[in-house]
Amino acid sequence: MEYRSLGSSGLKVSALSFGSWVTFGDQVDVDRAAECMQIAYDHGVNFFDNAEAYAGGQSERMMGTIIQEKGWTRSDLVVSTKIFWGGDGPNDRGLSRKHVVEGTKAALERLQMDYVDLVYCHRPDRQTPIEETVRAMSFLIENGYAFYWGTSEWSADAIRHAHEVARREHLVPPTMEQPQYNMLHRERVEREYAPLYDDIGLGTTTWSPLASGLLTGKYNDGIPDDSRLAMENYEWLQDQVLREEQLATVRELSTVADDLGCSTAQLALAWCLLNEDVSTVITGASKPSQVEENMQALDVVDRIDDATEARIESILDNEPAARPNFRDQ
Ligand SMILES: NC(=O)c1ccc[n+]([C@@H]2O[C@H](COP(=O)([O-])OP(=O)(O)OC[C@H]3O[C@@H](n4cnc5c(N)ncnc54)[C@H](OP(=O)(O)O)[C@@H]3O)[C@@H](O)[C@H]2O)c1
Repeated sequence: MEYRSLGSSGLKVSALSFGSWVTFGDQVDVDRAAECMQIAYDHGVNFFDNAEAYAGGQSERMMGTIIQEKGWTRSDLVVSTKIFWGGDGPNDRGLSRKHVVEGTKAALERLQMDYVDLVYCHRPDRQTPIEETVRAMSFLIENGYAFYWGTSEWSADAIRHAHEVARREHLVPPTMEQPQYNMLHRERVEREYAPLYDDIGLGTTTWSPLASGLLTGKYNDGIPDDSRLAMENYEWLQDQVLREEQLATVRELSTVADDLGCSTAQLALAWCLLNEDVSTVITGASKPSQVEENMQALDVVDRIDDATEARIESILDNEPAARPNFRDQ
């Protein structure tokens, strides 16, 4: 495993990490989840991602139980939660000081932990002043509930604003952002956030590297029964994922993967890893065999030479004009 700095912080995160969205609680039971986490851990994954919203809190309960039962050393792990969608009451959601503090305490109880390493604002909350949220996140850190805080899917302007407020008020600034990043969705990480990497030392923990499985090629000929897109309550994902032009792109990418002697999933993950502004690629899986396969993506990175990279780019045909920190640039 390769370990990368989380932005300009001193924290090291495994380049591939593991998250529980959709899977833990809704798709896999605790035994299957434990198997997946064990394989990731055995491959050197130290960062496990979660959120208060996942499976209504059940995902945190499962992950907490698994970590307890495995007896893993807490200091070897980086565990996160994300706060925003806590419940149905008017004060059980959003980024008010009340929900940030109450939501984090409830998440810690479910995780059976004294602290999380990372806590995120899961989305921006336009109804709460940014200073209130920055104070609340800073409070979490000053009081030992978390070590670093960050955002998820905030605009670059909002992240910069939070940073400025923190500096002005002598509070703790955000360390990382959690954006979607994959071959089909790259604009924000590569272009919008580009100035923030140097200006404020922003780290990125990126999500859906396989576009919910699309970039494995598993949807090339329809929807397998045991896949995410076949799940009840996730039909909405079908509209985003199953677009004919995207499927055509994936079919072409599969020929590149064949030539490299890897799977399409491994190629897609390796492509994310090539971007040095990515601190960690958060993977997801519903089966142990997927974790095994995905962890091998680290070995594929070095097989992508300049010519292959150019071939991939011509297939994707979506390269943002500025692509600042890919290898060799
Ligand atoms: N901050 C946010 O707003 C946000 C949003 C989404 C996710 N996240 C985080 O990012 C993590 C990863 O996101 P994601 O789960 O969407 O990642 P992803 O890599 O895009 O999709 C993972 C899914 O693809 C399928 N898959 C994975 N590897 C495969 C393989 N080798 N072969 C075939 N199918 C494979 C599995 O689904 P099936 O087997 O069911 O088809 C798996 O659950 C989440 O767990 C969560 O921690 C954060």
